[in-house]
Amino acid sequence: MNIIITKDQAEMSREGAKIFLDVIRNDPYAVLGLATGTTPLGLYAQLAEDRRRNGTSYRNIRTVNLDEYIGLGAEDEQSYVYFMRHNLFRYLDIPLENTHLPNGKAEDLSAECARYNALLDTLPRTVQLLGIGSNGHIAFNEPGTPFGSETHVVTLAESTVRDNSRLFARQENVPRRALTMGLKNIMEAEKIVVLASGAGKANAVSSMVRGVVTEAVPASILQRHPNCTLIADKEAASLI
Ligand code: F6R
Repeated sequence: MNIIITKDQAEMSREGAKIFLDVIRNDPYAVLGLATGTTPLGLYAQLAEDRRRNGTSYRNIRTVNLDEYIGLGAEDEQSYVYFMRHNLFRYLDIPLENTHLPNGKAEDLSAECARYNALLDTLPRTVQLLGIGSNGHIAFNEPGTPFGSETHVVTLAESTVRDNSRLFARQENVPRRALTMGLKNIMEAEKIVVLASGAGKANAVSSMVRGVVTEAVPASILQRHPNCTLIADKEAASLI
């Protein structure tokens, strides 16, 4: 794994954006695997700023997101589809039909998983962006998820519900279930960029980078990826 340690979160975001912009400029038809959460916000702001200043085009870019809460749709401000439109897509010239997330409102969840897996087969990711959970999850693959997993329904770990409750008015409003890309899907990306910021991620980052490769720490599978870069600020990297 390549490791870049930055002085702070802003520099982490700039370094991550450089890699993404390099991909986008070299391949106007690139497929971007995208993440939600607090960590990628600075990188998305950089892409929006670059679009405004330099007019980089996303007309032919396709995006696929990692996950979505079950029961939430585009009209819900806490949904990931809303997050992506609000924090990134509205600043780009990307046609919304080129942007994909699992459908949290699907009536038949196993059919939705099959649909998303089939979609991923047609959209091999040029680069995949990841954050990491404080328990070592990537996407919503919680500890214990098989390395061979594909898109599936997950019941979120208690620690994830607690971590995510900061974004909801009340903890009881945090959805308990989600649809997530599996670890096998994630590993198919040609290139992976993991961002990590803050002391709360230090344990998970050190287990990901230096620990045993085990399903107990889903992110540890990334040690097996041939082109994975971790960009961590110095707090997140403090235990490496
Ligand atoms: C989000 C996702 C999650 C987050 C992780 C870190 O799409 O898949 O794995 O990347 O929970 O979240 P933040 O960035 O909010 O600390």
